[in-house]
Amino acid sequence: MQLNKDNYGVTDSSCQAAGGLAGLTTLVEDFYDNMDRIPGAQKIRKMHGKDLEPVRKKLVYFLSGWLGGPRLYSETYGGISIPQAHQRFRIGGDERDAWLFCTKLAIDNQPYTDSFKEYLLAQLRIPAERVKQVYSHEG
Ligand code: HEM
Repeated sequence: MQLNKDNYGVTDSSCQAAGGLAGLTTLVEDFYDNMDRIPGAQKIRKMHGKDLEPVRKKLVYFLSGWLGGPRLYSETYGGISIPQAHQRFRIGGDERDAWLFCTKLAIDNQPYTDSFKEYLLAQLRIPAERVKQVYSHEG
């Protein structure tokens, strides 16, 4: 079955379209730089440690495997469930949107084709939605 004309999601074509490890490293650098500087992202920035270097590497490694490339995260750190890894944070709709906003700006800054930019953001919306929690009462 052909999912889309460029075969994203088939074998490692998405990882290659993202520029492999080098491209993902730049994407993730831009993403956390956005989180660092965008006023609307300060709430989620503060959930992270002061030093973003460890999580930059983890996200690059995760995305490599997630996009069908080398499974660097599981090889280095073991298995991961994205919802479980985020359970200890309070992530509601605003936090999800701030994360996706930083992501969208970072994707737009890459030399990707428009169709891959669109595809990648659409795919990332799925785990971002799963990370969001529902609160029965705020406070
Ligand atoms: C939707 C809003 C999200 C927020 C607010 C958020 C926030 C965070 C925070 C606070 C951490 C811990 C950082 C630290 O230890 O310093 C983290 C780790 C991580 N996040 Fe997210 N995240 C979100 C969505 C996502 C999504 C959608 C993905 C995957 C596509 C992702 C992938 C990761 C990975 C791989 C780690 C490292 C986990 C580990 O090894 O401990 N995050 N995130």
